[in-house]
Amino acid sequence: MTATTAQTSTTVTAPGTPAVAAENVYRFYRSGDEETLALRGVSLLVQADEFVVINGPSGSGKSTLLACLTGADEPSGGSIRIAGERINHRSQKDRDRIRASSIGVMAQSGNLVSHLRIRDNLRLAAHLADTGRSYQGAARTRTAPSWTATAEELGIGQRLDAWPEELSGGESARAALAVALAAGPLVLVADEPTGELDAHTEASLIEQLRAVAARGVAVIVASHSDAVAAGADRVVRLNEGQVVPS
Ligand SMILES: Nc1ncnc2c1ncn2[C@@H]1O[C@H](COP(=O)(O)OP(=O)(O)OP(=O)(O)O)[C@@H](O)[C@H]1O
Ligand SMILES: [Mg+2]
Repeated sequence: MTATTAQTSTTVTAPGTPAVAAENVYRFYRSGDEETLALRGVSLLVQADEFVVINGPSGSGKSTLLACLTGADEPSGGSIRIAGERINHRSQKDRDRIRASSIGVMAQSGNLVSHLRIRDNLRLAAHLADTGRSYQGAARTRTAPSWTATAEELGIGQRLDAWPEELSGGESARAALAVALAAGPLVLVADEPTGELDAHTEASLIEQLRAVAARGVAVIVASHSDAVAAGADRVVRLNEGQVVPS
């Protein structure tokens, strides 16, 4: 792989097709006789250049919704499309392939493999995406920045040789974002990405998320933070598994 100059090709939507279209999504959890209605008919459209924050009280279904959007979890009902392609009610292999080629998932350190240097974490993410795309066929592609350019842009270009455990909280967050973006995704999903950051580091991450959206990525962030909500194009509030009408 010619990593330093390589451009990453990535999925684009046909004009007018939302990057994310969730329709009437339900998610029930059952344990014994007890049933939890985590999502009760959630619908959500996000365009490819929008920064949307999902907020709401603890237990309102934010993480469940994000897990369904990325194909990590399977809704009990409803439909979810990524760039027009259905991701739910598909085989695990198809869900994994769609996620690898079109969705970046940011977790503060959860998406860094601890025994790989930051450089190799980024290479791995880019490689997985390319593999997903060649399986999919190269029909719907556009040019996205290389992972090295993304790392520079996020200010971790000097830390590529570091191990994940050597990074500060802010650097970890930026490395996690770089890994999520290494594949040139159409959709970026983050669950409480600023939960462990101080206000200054949080503010710079919000700016970076805004810049990512401005480049044509649908950015969907679950967060309790007022600062994150203030930086968003739109805030969607959940309460007891439903969208609160605005
Ligand atoms: N694996 C699971 N099994 C059973 N119930 C679950 C499971 N995951 C989530 N739930 C329940 O679903 C509801 C929604 O949980 P979820 O984690 O989506 O909330 P959240 O809005 O992300 O909360 P927080 O702000 O605390 O992160 C809660 O009642 C939770 O207890
Ligand atoms: Mg949560």
